[in-house]
Amino acid sequence: MSSCSVLVLAAGQGTRMRSRLPKVLHLMAGRPLLWHILRAVRGLKPERLIVVSGFQAELVEQTLAAPDIHWVQQNERKGTGHAVLCALPVLHSLSGELLILNGDHPLVSTEILLSLLEEHRQKGNALTLLSTTLRNPDGYGRVVRDADGGVVRIVEEKDAVAVERAICEVNTGFYCVSLDRLPGWLARITNQNAQNEYYLPDIVPMALAEGGASALCVEDALALSGVNDRLQLANMERIFRDRMVEGFMASGVTFVDPSSCWVAAEVQIGADTVIEPNVILGPGSVVGEGCHIGPFCHIQDSRIGPACQIHSFCHLEGVDIEGENDIGPYARLRPGSYLARKAKVGNFCELKKARIGVGSKINHLSYIGDAEIGSGVNVGAGTITCNYDGVHKHKTVIEDRVFVGSDVQLVAPVRVGMNATIGAGTTVTKDVPADALAVSRTAQTHILAWADKKSRFSS
Ligand code: UD1
Ligand code: CA
Repeated sequence: MSSCSVLVLAAGQGTRMRSRLPKVLHLMAGRPLLWHILRAVRGLKPERLIVVSGFQAELVEQTLAAPDIHWVQQNERKGTGHAVLCALPVLHSLSGELLILNGDHPLVSTEILLSLLEEHRQKGNALTLLSTTLRNPDGYGRVVRDADGGVVRIVEEKDAVAVERAICEVNTGFYCVSLDRLPGWLARITNQNAQNEYYLPDIVPMALAEGGASALCVEDALALSGVNDRLQLANMERIFRDRMVEGFMASGVTFVDPSSCWVAAEVQIGADTVIEPNVILGPGSVVGEGCHIGPFCHIQDSRIGPACQIHSFCHLEGVDIEGENDIGPYARLRPGSYLARKAKVGNFCELKKARIGVGSKINHLSYIGDAEIGSGVNVGAGTITCNYDGVHKHKTVIEDRVFVGSDVQLVAPVRVGMNATIGAGTTVTKDVPADALAVSRTAQTHILAWADKKSRFSS
C-alpha cells in the first residue's frame, strides 16, 4: 500500500488533567502519551510526519525530538480545526491522503491506522473517520447517522441534545482526508458552538457534500479510547500492562501475580523467566532467559543476562549483569555497575560504578563504588570503598583472587595486587603488593581482671 502523510494534534493543555505538564507528556507505561501514538504512526512509514505543538511546545518538542518530525506551532489553542489550520503552510506542499490523529489516544495501533487508510481508499471518500462504540460515551463527540445509516455529522457532547447524548457511537478523532479538499473545508469552519472553538469534526458534513464521507466503526473500543483525565490514564495504563504481560506469558514468561506487577513499554523478558509478585520492570529493562526475579524488585534501564537469581527487595538501575548472577535480597545496584558471570552481591550491599569480575562475591553489608574488582575475589562483610574525599571521586582496584577480610576500608585511590589478603578491620591507605598480607589494626592488648576493677569504679 502506498504511503500517506500524518498530522498529529498535540497542542492542547489537557485542562481535565489539572496539571502543569501538557497532557501528551503524561506517561503511560513509562513513556509520554504522544510517544505511543508516534510509535503506531511510524509503523505506517508516513511520507511526512507533522506534529502540532502549542501548550509548552518547547518541552514537548524537546521530549520527543526526532529527525522525522516536522513540528508546527499553534500559539493560541482555538480548537482542533484551528490546530489543523496552523499546519496548512506545510500541508500545501503535500498531496494524496492525510491521516489526522488526536494526540491523546495512546493505545492505537499501526493496524488500526492502516484499516482506516484502506477503508478510505476502497470507498473513494474525501473523508473517512474512525468511530467506535462505548458503553459510556461521556465526553466524546457522537456520530449522528441518518435513517439509512449514513454519517451525517459529529456533535460534541456540550452541543448535543438529549437524544444525541444517548448515542454510543463516538468519534475517535482519527480521520483520513484527501489533501486537495482540506483547505477549502477548513476555511469554512466557525466557532459558533458551546465551546467557541473551531471544531475539526465540522468538516464532516462538508466532505459529505463534496466527495463523500463515511465512518469506519471499529470494535476494539479499548484501543481507541482517549485520555482526558487521570482516571482514564490509570485505566489505560492497566490495559496496556495487561496486554504486555499477556504477550510475555504467551512467549513463555511466568508472572505469578500479573496484576501486581508493572512493566514499561518495550521491556524485554526471555522465556522461562519467573517474575514474582510486585515486581516493577521500568523503562529500558531487558531480562534474559531463565531468570528468577523475586518479590518487590525494581529494575530499570538495566540488562539482566540469563539465569540470574534476583532475590526480593532489590533495586537495580543502569546496570549490566552478564548472567548466572545471584543478587540480594535487599541489594542496591546503581548506574554503571557491571557483574561478570556468576558474580554475587548479597544483602544490604550497594554498588555504584563498580565492575565485578567472574565469580567474585560481595555478600554482606558493603559499599563498593568507583571500583574495579577482578575475578575470584571475596569481599568480606562490611567492606567499604572510601571513594570520595569531599571534593573528588577516586578509584579502587582489587586484582584477581584477593581476599578482603571483614570490616575493611579501602581509601581510594588504591590498588590491591593479585592474591593479596587484607586482614579484617584493616584501613588500606597504600597500594598492597601482590601475594602480601596487609593488616593495619593495632595489636590487641589485655588488661587482666578488668571486671573486678570495673565493679570497684561503679560502687
Ligand atoms: C475531540 C473531538 C471529539 C472526539 C474526541 C476523541 C473535536 C472538537 N472533538 O474532543 O469529537 O470524540 O476528540 O478523543 O475535535 N488539540 C490541539 N489544539 C487545540 C485543541 C486540541 O492540538 O486547540 C489537540 C489536543 O492536544 C488533543 C486533541 O487535539 O491531542 C484532542 O483535543 P481534546 O481537547 O482532547 O478534544 P476532545 O474534547 O477530547
Ligand atoms: Ca480528548
